[in-house]
Amino acid sequence: MKKIMALTIAFVALFVLAACGGGSTPDIGISMPTTASTRWISDGESMKEQFEELGYEVILEYAQDNITTQVNQIENMVTQGVKILIIAAIDNQSLTNVLSEAAAAGVQVIAYDRLILNSEHVSYYATFDNFGVGVLMGNSIINGLDLANNAGPFNIELFAGSPDDSNTFFFFNGAMSVLQPHIDSGKLIVRSGQTDVTQVATLRWDGQVAQSRMENLITAHYSTGEVVHAVLSPYDGLSIGIISALRSNGYGLGANDIPMPHITGQDAEVASVQQIINGFQSSTIFKDTRELARVAVTMAEALLTGSTPEINDTETYDNGLGIVPSYLLVPFFVDINNWREMLIDSGYYEAGTFTE
Ligand code: GAL
Repeated sequence: MKKIMALTIAFVALFVLAACGGGSTPDIGISMPTTASTRWISDGESMKEQFEELGYEVILEYAQDNITTQVNQIENMVTQGVKILIIAAIDNQSLTNVLSEAAAAGVQVIAYDRLILNSEHVSYYATFDNFGVGVLMGNSIINGLDLANNAGPFNIELFAGSPDDSNTFFFFNGAMSVLQPHIDSGKLIVRSGQTDVTQVATLRWDGQVAQSRMENLITAHYSTGEVVHAVLSPYDGLSIGIISALRSNGYGLGANDIPMPHITGQDAEVASVQQIINGFQSSTIFKDTRELARVAVTMAEALLTGSTPEINDTETYDNGLGIVPSYLLVPFFVDINNWREMLIDSGYYEAGTFTE
């Protein structure tokens, strides 16, 4: 009888443990926007790895650029009992309610790379100097066309990121802070006349949308002999689409092709670094996602252990309800001259990733 009782108790205990998933509650919920871009995969995986090394349990999810999916995934993380949420938002205005629910459950929130607007429950923000990113892009064009020594005029078209991502405005304003004087002086001409960020934005950072817009710009403004000399593109995924549109309209590297314009980018994605090596894209901006992950992990650990996260900016990022204390990392310019040093020697990509 005693044996049967003991066996029954052991069986029930095992069942309860199994039902609770081993009895452990996740500590951290990481909500990333999409796997469509390799950077977010690296961001998510770097954080997960670093948290697990510290002994924390992590839920990592990707919302495939669907706002409702992201809200549901975050809600689910809160229900599962996470103490910290690290979120790269798809739409900066859609998380107000879910973050209130999170706060009511005692969860603290770190905005990851993208600022979350209209919520008083964003404790910290880990990102890069986003205005500085834009300045690097603008200077890439200024130096690429050698505006200091060339009279021009040169034709340029402008692209911006998703209008629901605050970074879009920082990148665009940073770039325009150095390009605008050359537009004003007439050295740079935007033939389409589309110079306002709302006219040049690209919803969801979608490369196909950028490709169609570039096609339309060429048809409408460059079909009677005018040539595009530069394209401001704030993201490698857009640059890929822009390059395709240009190539299918006679731009290229061949003797009979119209020379490729100076095209910028961001994120140092593998496919785009290859485009730089092949000569189709001029530059990209390298933001070391391992470092950003490290900053977010360090912030989360501080919150979990009751200390104050290190920040280096308390002025720049107002989310509509106040300034969010931030840690800004430094972005780096990458082109044909330094990609190996920046991306291979730093260990960001393995040697042999690219074909030379
Ligand atoms: C931005 C980010 C960029 C780029 C873009 C598209 O928020 O700062 O580096 O990744 O999203 O994913």
